Amino acid sequence: MLDVRAIDLSYGASLCLRGVSLGVEAGRVTCVLGRNGVGKSSLLRAVMGLERIGAGSIMWEGRDISRLGPAERARAGIGYVPQGREIFPFLTVQENLETALAAAPRGSSVDQEVFDLFPVLRDFLRRRGGDLSGGQQQQLAIARALCARPRLLILDEPTEGIQPNVIKDIGRVIAHLAKDRGMGVLLVEQYYEFARGLADHIAIMVRGEVALAGAPGTLDEEAVRRLLTV
Ligand SMILES: Nc1ncnc2c1ncn2[C@@H]1O[C@H](COP(=O)(O)OP(=O)(O)O)[C@@H](O)[C@H]1O
Ligand SMILES: [Mg+2]
Repeated sequence: MLDVRAIDLSYGASLCLRGVSLGVEAGRVTCVLGRNGVGKSSLLRAVMGLERIGAGSIMWEGRDISRLGPAERARAGIGYVPQGREIFPFLTVQENLETALAAAPRGSSVDQEVFDLFPVLRDFLRRRGGDLSGGQQQQLAIARALCARPRLLILDEPTEGIQPNVIKDIGRVIAHLAKDRGMGVLLVEQYYEFARGLADHIAIMVRGEVALAGAPGTLDEEAVRRLLTV
């Protein structure tokens, strides 16, 4: 469904992504791993249309979306949860979820299924986003993205700074979205263990390039660890 073809991305004179190619299929999880600063977030922002690519193309459901803005890509079915969550701290949980409906047809309401996935959000509907724990904020950020009913969900380090029990919950939800609902998932992670448990395909980036890629079981663990350890 998503086909990133040999994209380059520069910040001023510095080349940040170099010929990066990557795919995501419906019902599958593609995971991008790599040390800090290799360009993982830049790659996701390029897919979302938040950065302009200098070469290559981004194909979505057979169409070249390289020139579309972020709002158009969202309407085309791509959901994005940025690194650091970026929920609205002064809005309530309910209001945060409602912000996802801006692009939806008039009269749409918050998808009640998100409360089955993240029951804690139902309990805290009237609480301000900023008063939630880090893990709850991450769940809110994912739930908000799901309210727009994407077919592809992009997640940038959803486990960053979160307690192990909530990481497990988030992992279960990601697996459910892919396996049971047929959603495509593009996940950026720092933690190999978490990625290996979820991913159908892994791509490891080094300095703006994909250095190693394949199904989790087929990758040379020794090489993986060498590319990921600091
Ligand atoms: N808006 C920006 N302007 C200039 N340089 C940036 C910008 N965003 C990221 N970079 C640089 O691009 C490189 C990749 O960053 P990033 O994509 O955030 O990496 P990662 O998510 O893998 O940690 C880093 O060297 C970073 O400093
Ligand atoms: Mg990042």
